Amino acid sequence: MRTPVYIALCGFFGLGTASPTTNSGSSSAATVHWLGDKPAHNLGTTFGVPWAQGQHDPKKTKFTVSSGSNQVDLQSWVTGYWSDGSVKWTGHAIAASENILDEYTVTASKSAASVESASTNSKNKLKVTDTAKKITVDTGKLKVSFPKSGSNIIDTIQTAGGKIIGQDGRLVLQSQSGVDSNSDSRGKQPIKNLNFASKIEGVTVGKQNSVRALVTVRGKHQVTSGGPHDDWLPFVLRFYLYSNSDAIRLVHSLVFDAPAEKNFITGLGIRFGVPLKGEELYNRHVRIAGVDGGLLSEAVKGITGLRRDPGAAVRTAQYDGVVVPDISTWDTRVSTRMKWIPAWGDYSLSQLSSDGFTLKKRTKAGQSWINISGGTRAGGLAYLGGATQGGLAVGLRDFWKRYPSGLDISNAASDLGEITVWLYDPAAEPLDLRPYHDGLNQTTYADQLDALEITYEDYEPGFNTPYGIARTSEVFIFGFEKTPSRDTLSDLTEHMNNPPVLTAEPAYIQKTKALGSYWGLPDTTSARSAEIEGHLDFLFKQYQKEVEQRRWYGFLNYGDFMHSYDTDRHTWRYDVGGYGWDNSELSPDLFFWQYFLRTGREDVYRFAEALTRHTGEVDVYHIGDWKGLGTRHGVQHWADSAKQARISQPQYRKYFYYLSGGDERIGELFDELLDTETTYGILDPQRKVRKDGWVPTPNSTVAFSLGTDWSALASGWLIEWERRGLRWEEAKTKLTSTITSIANLKYGFVTGSGLYSLQNSTLGPPPLDPDNKGLVDVSHLSAVFGLPEVVSEAIEYYGDDLPAGFKDAWYDYCYYYAATGDEQVARYGVKFKDISLLQAHSRLTAYAAHQTSNTTLAKRAWRDLLNSDGLGPNTPWNTTHMSGSSVLVALDEAPWLGSNDVAQYGLAVIQNLALARDALDTWNS
Ligand SMILES: *[C@@H]1O[C@H](CO)[C@@H](O)[C@H](O)[C@H]1NC(C)=O
Ligand SMILES: *[C@@H]1O[C@H](CO)[C@@H](O)[C@H](O)[C@H]1NC(C)=O
Ligand SMILES: *[C@@H]1O[C@H](CO)[C@@H](O)[C@H](O)[C@H]1NC(C)=O
Ligand SMILES: *[C@@H]1O[C@H](CO)[C@@H](O)[C@H](O)[C@H]1NC(C)=O
Ligand SMILES: *[C@@H]1O[C@H](CO)[C@@H](O)[C@H](O)[C@H]1NC(C)=O
Ligand SMILES: *[C@@H]1O[C@H](CO)[C@@H](O)[C@H](O)[C@H]1NC(C)=O
Repeated sequence: MRTPVYIALCGFFGLGTASPTTNSGSSSAATVHWLGDKPAHNLGTTFGVPWAQGQHDPKKTKFTVSSGSNQVDLQSWVTGYWSDGSVKWTGHAIAASENILDEYTVTASKSAASVESASTNSKNKLKVTDTAKKITVDTGKLKVSFPKSGSNIIDTIQTAGGKIIGQDGRLVLQSQSGVDSNSDSRGKQPIKNLNFASKIEGVTVGKQNSVRALVTVRGKHQVTSGGPHDDWLPFVLRFYLYSNSDAIRLVHSLVFDAPAEKNFITGLGIRFGVPLKGEELYNRHVRIAGVDGGLLSEAVKGITGLRRDPGAAVRTAQYDGVVVPDISTWDTRVSTRMKWIPAWGDYSLSQLSSDGFTLKKRTKAGQSWINISGGTRAGGLAYLGGATQGGLAVGLRDFWKRYPSGLDISNAASDLGEITVWLYDPAAEPLDLRPYHDGLNQTTYADQLDALEITYEDYEPGFNTPYGIARTSEVFIFGFEKTPSRDTLSDLTEHMNNPPVLTAEPAYIQKTKALGSYWGLPDTTSARSAEIEGHLDFLFKQYQKEVEQRRWYGFLNYGDFMHSYDTDRHTWRYDVGGYGWDNSELSPDLFFWQYFLRTGREDVYRFAEALTRHTGEVDVYHIGDWKGLGTRHGVQHWADSAKQARISQPQYRKYFYYLSGGDERIGELFDELLDTETTYGILDPQRKVRKDGWVPTPNSTVAFSLGTDWSALASGWLIEWERRGLRWEEAKTKLTSTITSIANLKYGFVTGSGLYSLQNSTLGPPPLDPDNKGLVDVSHLSAVFGLPEVVSEAIEYYGDDLPAGFKDAWYDYCYYYAATGDEQVARYGVKFKDISLLQAHSRLTAYAAHQTSNTTLAKRAWRDLLNSDGLGPNTPWNTTHMSGSSVLVALDEAPWLGSNDVAQYGLAVIQNLALARDALDTWNS
């Protein structure tokens, strides 16, 4: 059906189109170091490293890693290629090790074998067996079996000592068919309570398994009681196991796929059985992480605090979780009366807000709970096990930030105890994904556009649906031969919440150009550059602070921030139509990642990572008719009716993808986005304002903009080509074809939009200019959703193979957007209308200046950055402390700050410094 316009030619290494260039196969090295402080534990780590173009042939390169004279076991794979087929990005895994070094040197050297077949000789290799019924991975410390059918995601977890410390791992889901309007109406409408278990549909293990094994489990939740109900909430579980490690990292992803009016999640968790048979109740231990390294340490049957003393050695041993002296040695006043001491089988911690948790226990079901204590922000880890038999700890990363979360220990006095980690705690209110308003009778486009005038919400009936949104969470599982020390569990709680990250140096990443040439290292060499660097730091820190001050936490919300501020109420406009959650408006994702690239700062990385995990999942549709589109900013992440590719823009996730060594969940999101162009045949983003009469038809020719739409599609295609994914040739064809077409439009990017054939992947002129006579349609939004980054990376990626005229088309857009009206008229016959966001576009001017080494133009870039709209030298750059009755809680506000400005000022500063630095100090002299 599709006729490729450009057929991929055989080239260097058989993968690209360019000719062999340089010293392929020569040796080179990159240093990686831990983000932040050196971690206390290395339980196995994956990281990404970029390589300059033309250096390494993927078929003839071996990667090794060392630190000083220590050789470390390494598994390597290629996550990205240059267009000539040389290695652009690698992913690497190192095994767990007690010897943790400050930094590691990754060396690429010539080899007879390919990157991926070069494997470690180590005795510590993982053992992986894959049979019809199950996959088993043995790390040397833990042996874990993953059944290929049924409801268990994990059958057993066994220690090296042969102890089964975990079994029957499974997902737990609870839901309700309705919710009461308020407490008075309880019981007045019939509400069904349903229970579901995981139903496995497919289990696979990666091909490379020397140091790291990735087991992927897919399935749905199947009703077990309270039903009938369709199987729903499809999940993907990615288990990462490392050689020599007693930890398992689980990336848990889930898609919401039911009508929100009838399906309210009340509990969502992962449960493991912990065998305790044969362990004395006084040797069974419960540990639950509290605040800042704190821990609840109790035994199922306590022998401390009793009226009679079993002896100090016994008490101390129990508190420390070690085997207590034989009971025959205890004071008999205690040993003869053990049967009178209750055993506490159940514990439950609920973190129902980001500010507090409660913790309770009971002897067993049917008896009252006893409140233990509470605290602010729980670490999110629970352990159950025996002093002799070992045990299991399970926890949720960012536990309190993702409230309502919970941890349950159950039946600890029986032969089989259980630990449940709740990603959504059943003690919380049901997850209510219904619309927040009833439609306000906005039945026509005219009404909807009129309403947009006042609340800025772009409403349309039926569009405020969560059907197809997703959420990804990280769970950690740790196994033990015996009950670990309190400090060990404390350390692991820290490890889980801030998993160690290895990263290359900013200067090295920049030099490879693997993430473009539009950013550079921080520059404080002049007063002016130091001042604007300080402003970037201010913006980052204020946003970090706002997340905390405004409690931008919660199961679905964590990672995002708000769009605009209400200076009267001293709050963000969380309840005003289109001003609520930011949903990547004007690309803050790009700013925060580029800010990380240049600074290498841990705080920036963690912030950007949380943002990426949120925006790519919750703000985007993963299934259904709008699969591939995201939702515009609003009061709920899915509420607005503007469903657009600018929000799902793959470029937002590209940095994390490569830096993380190819995070497989992000890779899957890239795959999902490869059919986004087909949505234009179903849903026209311009439907409410289109004046050219064009209507979408599935599978034929579709209309999209050359700015927000094409940049998202192009990014997806470029990433697929770079990754050499399954559809890379098709993606390359589409990219090349549309790039050629844009170059062939009389006015290039200035044309604004075009008609794209889904049948043959060619892009033609827009409906109003069928003969390509030249149409001028410039939008202030075109270049603020990733277009500059995508175009500049594409131009470099093609190199000499770039279709003719494209560079000029982009140069012209960059030059003329903010040129004088006279210049625009001279070039295009008309002056551009509705030009705004000059500060944002100053980086386009800087790009043009850089291309032609035009100092006059470079000065214009700085003028527009420092002296037009947006943030500037006259912005206060300070906060005001607010307290008392004017605010809910005391806080530091910056009423002059909004997220559009943060994103675009940040990007403009970074890119102008990279492209037009020389003119900064002289622009106005
Ligand atoms: C224990 O705390 C819970 C809230 O976590 C509360 O509902 C319950 O009433 C408390 N129990 C007692 C006896 O105060
Ligand atoms: C809804 O709007 C329509 C016209 O736009 C109007 O005729 C109708 O009365 C309105 N209904 C309500 C309940 O306000
Ligand atoms: C579009 O084309 C695809 C493949 O050619 C086909 O599977 C699908 O049914 C078509 N959809 C419509 C709405 O025609
Ligand atoms: C691609 O399809 C469009 C629309 O059907 C058509 O106008 C155009 O000529 C085709 N282009 C090529 C190169 O086949
Ligand atoms: C450099 O930019 C200035 C300002 O826009 C422009 O007038 C001039 O023609 C440009 N010079 C070149 C050589 O392109
Ligand atoms: C913030 O800066 C503005 C403008 O420079 C100044 O007027 C104001 O006093 C400053 N406020 C504080 C709290 O420093």
